[in-house]
Amino acid sequence: MAQRGTTRNGEADKIPASDLPQPVKIQRVRYTKIFINNEWHTSVSGRTFPTLNPATGDTICELQEADKEDVDKAVAAAKAAMQLDSAWRKMEPSRRGRLLHKLADLVERDQKLLATLESLDTGKPFLQAFFTDLEGSIKTLHYYGGWADKIHGKSVPVDETFVCLTRHEPIGICGAIIPWNFPLLMLMWKLAPALSCGNTVVIKPAEQTPLTALHIGSLIKEAGFPAGVVNIVPGFGSTAGAAIASHEGIDKVAFTGSTEVGQLIKEAAAKSNLKRVTLELGGKNPCIVFADCDLQLAVEEIQKGAFYNQGQCCTAASRVFVQDRIYEEFVRRSIENAKKIVIGDPLDPQTTHGPQIDQQQFGKIIELIESGKKEGAKLEYGGGAVGENSLFIQPTIFSDVKDSMRIAKEEIFGPVLCIFSFKSKQEVIERANNSQYGLVSAVFTTNMDRALSVSGALETGTVWINCYNAMHVQTPFGGYKMSGNGRELGEYALAEYSEVKTVTFKMNDSM
Ligand code: NAI
Ligand code: MG
Repeated sequence: MAQRGTTRNGEADKIPASDLPQPVKIQRVRYTKIFINNEWHTSVSGRTFPTLNPATGDTICELQEADKEDVDKAVAAAKAAMQLDSAWRKMEPSRRGRLLHKLADLVERDQKLLATLESLDTGKPFLQAFFTDLEGSIKTLHYYGGWADKIHGKSVPVDETFVCLTRHEPIGICGAIIPWNFPLLMLMWKLAPALSCGNTVVIKPAEQTPLTALHIGSLIKEAGFPAGVVNIVPGFGSTAGAAIASHEGIDKVAFTGSTEVGQLIKEAAAKSNLKRVTLELGGKNPCIVFADCDLQLAVEEIQKGAFYNQGQCCTAASRVFVQDRIYEEFVRRSIENAKKIVIGDPLDPQTTHGPQIDQQQFGKIIELIESGKKEGAKLEYGGGAVGENSLFIQPTIFSDVKDSMRIAKEEIFGPVLCIFSFKSKQEVIERANNSQYGLVSAVFTTNMDRALSVSGALETGTVWINCYNAMHVQTPFGGYKMSGNGRELGEYALAEYSEVKTVTFKMNDSM
C-alpha cells in the first residue's frame, strides 16, 4: 500500500486505496445565506462576499455578508429561543442529548460532502479533512450529547438550619468566532458544549471558510433543534465579529484565532457587558528531544506537528530543541523525512500538502522565512514558494536557529520547522518556557522519570510525551499565558458554558 501519511494518525494508511472515501462533485454550493431562526436570510445591507479556493484562486461562490444589523437579528432569535417558557428551555436534558447525537449522525451521513467543502474552502487535503476534521466533529457531538443529562450540581452541607444546593444553568446566548484553519472542528468545539449545557448560539465562521458552517445550519434544522437555538452569521471580523464581541445581548463569547484579535475581543467584552470570554490563541510550541529518545519516532511525530495542515495550527511544533549528541542526526533524518511530503491538488488522495489559506498568510510566512535566512539560520530544506502565482509553500527546515531570531519568537503559522541545539535539561526548560505563549509542548525520551519531571516544569496547557498532536475530545485543551483563557473539550469545557447558582432553603422545622 502506498505510504500516504496524509492524516494525523495515519488512518488513511490503514485502508486499501480502493476503499478510501472519495470527494463529492459539487456543482453548486447550496447554503450561502445567513442562518437565523432555522431560516435562510439575505443580508440587511444587501452586500455579498466571495469565498475562494486557495488551491486555484477561483471563486467558489458568493455569500450573504452579515454585519451588525444581521448579528442583532440573530441575537434576537437566540434570545427568544432562550426564554423561560421556550421549547428549548423546557426541553428535557436527555432530549437535548438526543438532538446532538442526531446532528452527529447527519454530519456522518454528509461526511464526504462536508470534507469536500472543507477541502475546497481551506485547501487542506481531502483525506485530512475527512479523517481529522470530520471524524473529530462527529466525536465531539456524540461526546457532548452524552453529557447533556449528566450536568448537575450538588447539595452542600452547611449550618443545620439551612439546606443548600447548586444548579448548573446555561449562561444564555453564546457568541462563537471561528478561525479558518479548522473551520468545522473549531465550530463543533464551541457549539457542542454550548448546546449540551442548554445555551443558544450565534456563530461567525471565518470569512475565508464559511461553507461547512452553513451546511451545518441546514443539518441543525433537519435534526429538529427549535428555531433560534443556533444562528450562523457569515461575515468579516471587524464588522460581524466585532458586533458579537461588543454585543450587550450576548452573555459569553468563545474565540479561536490570533492573539491580537483575542485581546480586542476581551477588551470589547469588558467595555460592553463584561460577557464571559474564552480564548484559544497562538502558540510557539517547544519540543524537547533528549538523546535517549526513539529518534525516528521523534523525527516523524515532530514533522507531522510542524507541517500538518501546512503548518496552520496553533499547536504547530515550531521550536524543536534537540540535545547536542543527536543533533546532526536529527537534522539529517528530518530532511530525509520531509522529502516524502507530496505537494499537490488537495482533492487528490496522494496529496499530503496543500496551499496556505490566503495571500496575506502566504506573505507573512514568506517574509518570516526570509528573516530566518537574513538572521543567519541555516536553511536545510525548502525555503520558498512552489512555482509562481500560487499559495503553495515548500515545507521548510532551518537548523542553527538562535532564540533571539524572529523565527524563534513569532508564530509563523506556516510549514516551517526550526531546529535548535541544547546541552542540559535545566537549560532547555528555561529556554522552552521563555515565551509569551504557553499552548502545547512535547518531550521525547525513553526515561519516564525525566518525562514526568520535565512535563511538570513546562508552562503549557498540554504536554505530549513521545507523541504529537494527540488530541482527544475527552481531554481539556487550552493555553497558559498569552495562548488563551479557559479550556475547550472534556468535562472542563462544561464549566465554560454554565453558570452555577446556589439555592439556599431556611428550615424552620429543625430537630
Ligand atoms: P484572526 O484572529 O483575524 O481571525 C480569526 C477570526 O476572528 C475570524 O473569524 C475573523 O473574522 C475574526 N476577527 C478578526 N478580527 C476581529 C475583530 N476585530 N473582532 C472580532 N472578530 C474578529 O486571524 P487571521 O488574521 O486570519 O490570522 C492571523 C494570524 O492569527 C495567523 O497568522 C496565526 O498566527 C493566528 N491564527 C491563529 C489561529 C489559531 O488556531 N489559534 C487560527 C487563525 C489564525
Ligand atoms: Mg475560502
